Amino acid sequence: MADRPARSHGRLSIRPTAQPRDLMAESHARAGAWTARVITLFPEAFPGVLGLSLTGRALAEGLWGLETLQLRDFATGKHRNVDDTPAGGGAGMVLRADVVGRALDAAAQGARGDWPVIYLSPRGVPLSQTLAKRLSQADGVTLLCGRFEGVDQRVLDSRNVLEVSIGDYVLSGGEIAAQVLIDATVRLIPRVLGNSASVEEESFAHGLLEYPQYTRPAVWEGHEIPEVLLSGDHARVASWRREQAEALTKERRPDLWRAHESGDPVQGQELSDAHTIAAKGEQKD
Ligand code: ADE
Repeated sequence: MADRPARSHGRLSIRPTAQPRDLMAESHARAGAWTARVITLFPEAFPGVLGLSLTGRALAEGLWGLETLQLRDFATGKHRNVDDTPAGGGAGMVLRADVVGRALDAAAQGARGDWPVIYLSPRGVPLSQTLAKRLSQADGVTLLCGRFEGVDQRVLDSRNVLEVSIGDYVLSGGEIAAQVLIDATVRLIPRVLGNSASVEEESFAHGLLEYPQYTRPAVWEGHEIPEVLLSGDHARVASWRREQAEALTKERRPDLWRAHESGDPVQGQELSDAHTIAAKGEQKD
């Protein structure tokens, strides 16, 4: 095959979106800030909701970084095809190993320290709070977003890519899933979420669903706030909340309840060392 290198091979492409372009600029991330490097055919989908509210503010302040790479920049030939028909036949198209390989190698440049590489896919290990916590402790992550039937298995194997799913349903592509993963991860980075106590209290932090919350007005359409919450008795409030969290978890998520009872982590998908890609070179972002 006459594979010519793409003209823009290796370039990190930062595309303008509805969000201020500045949010996407690499230079805004502080030195050493946790960074998501996203390989996608739709860089304009980023930052998307990540550019809003808490994550958006933190992005603008450089507390974390977001970079996109246009997958098509790594395709060759007149048509710059990124996909082809599946070997063995069947419906849909498959992302080519050579194109994805070049994109992953470009993303690996300047990736420092602990930098997992993830392909968002419905057949991946489930995203959980445990995995988000683990990712938040890395230096950054490279996320590959697909849009077709899949990715050539050879490149997933050779580049040690971890497949992660955000749930048992099929999305049209990995971009929304990547944003879900980034959001769940970034908010666990110290200083990104202003109030770390609320992270401690929220669902899954202790393997239980969160207890019900109430606020003013004290009576709404005839419904009152549970009396205990207005009692000012902190011990009673704490034990009421605990009971509520346990009852909700038992009823809605027997899987979580069993894991909680047995003292196991929520779901046991720690990233193994095999999926931790060491930095290639010491280049700083
Ligand atoms: N891409 C398509 N569906 C997906 C899912 N459920 N999780 C992650 N990535 C996906």
